[in-house]
Amino acid sequence: MTGLCLTLTVKFLNKRDKLANMETNQGISLPQMGCGTWAWGNQLLWGYKESMDDHLQEVFNLCVDHGVTLFDTGDSYGTGRLNGRSELLLGKFSREYQGIGQENICIATKLAPYPWRLTSQSMVLAGKASAQRLQRKIDLVQMHWSTANYAPWLEGRLLDGLAQLYELGLVSGVGLSNYGPKRLKWGYEKFRQINVPISTLQVQYSLLSTYPVTELGLKEICDDLGIKLIAYSPLALGILTGKFSQKGPFPSGIRGLLFRQLLPGIEPILGCLRAIANSRNKTMSQIAINWCMSKGTIPIPGAKNLEQARENIGALGWKLTSAEVAELDQAAVKVNKKMVQNIFQTK
Ligand SMILES: NC(=O)c1ccc[n+]([C@@H]2O[C@H](COP(=O)([O-])OP(=O)(O)OC[C@H]3O[C@@H](n4cnc5c(N)ncnc54)[C@H](OP(=O)(O)O)[C@@H]3O)[C@@H](O)[C@H]2O)c1
Repeated sequence: MTGLCLTLTVKFLNKRDKLANMETNQGISLPQMGCGTWAWGNQLLWGYKESMDDHLQEVFNLCVDHGVTLFDTGDSYGTGRLNGRSELLLGKFSREYQGIGQENICIATKLAPYPWRLTSQSMVLAGKASAQRLQRKIDLVQMHWSTANYAPWLEGRLLDGLAQLYELGLVSGVGLSNYGPKRLKWGYEKFRQINVPISTLQVQYSLLSTYPVTELGLKEICDDLGIKLIAYSPLALGILTGKFSQKGPFPSGIRGLLFRQLLPGIEPILGCLRAIANSRNKTMSQIAINWCMSKGTIPIPGAKNLEQARENIGALGWKLTSAEVAELDQAAVKVNKKMVQNIFQTK
């Protein structure tokens, strides 16, 4: 009996320790790592089926229970009639969650600057529609991408819409996504003038995609501006997990085509991940995710089932040494094929 009590106490303290790693930035509670939910509702790229929902709820519960309380979604997530599915599921799961860490749950949605969204009011309405799907207040609203590459004149109005959502108290914080240093500074200045803080910036960042974080010094700029950097696609859509090889298997659809092109050129990084994973008794995914954290970013790996979520959570609670990080950095430089950049990523 005493042994059982001791085990339960240790388990509880372990969880509490993980939760203690929360950081608050501009009023938003951010853990060291989050969970991406692009796949939750996406049939086309990710093979989502509604029969997965119970398992996704288990993924959600496991994450929160282990201090992974940030969930990234978007109003464009979900294909066809399932558009908005990821937000709907997150709303349901967060309402039904009954465990420790409930108060730290942070639902971060992204509003897409669709071509028919041309005014600040259209963004306010989009935010209200997301909150309606979530059936709760949005914790963090993010501009999904900047329009700077094709309609720079429009962007000010759309950002005004995000600011209005914040001023109306409909969201707790504001973030940006796919902004490079130049456009980030422009957006930061715009928000500064109206006293709206930017809590986060989200860009693609992994051992296969270091632009614009390393190449343009984006992390340092975020640090200067008090913005937390979120790393999306930290497993490079799953290729860094090591489960795919040049001889196959390949994932179905567009990912398969992309991975066939990438795999022959990325052996230096896969080999390095494999070696460090073996010596550490960790998995390649855990090493790839921990590398993102070692760079001071918050990775948000996507997880489609409990097994993946459990493995990814295992990236928490330990640190790569600086020598291991340097080894991975060097291997990343040797790779001659990189992950494709988001077409909306700005300078
Ligand atoms: N702001 C933006 O423009 C933007 C763009 C892209 C993504 N994001 C966000 O970032 C999140 C994460 O990025 P992502 O989903 O694109 O890619 P990712 O996190 O690099 O890869 C996720 C995929 O890898 C596979 N996987 C994950 N963990 C695994 C494990 N432990 N073992 C084996 N396979 C594993 C799963 O797919 P399979 O099981 O099918 O292999 C999973 O869906 C998204 O969900 C989304 O929230 C934002």
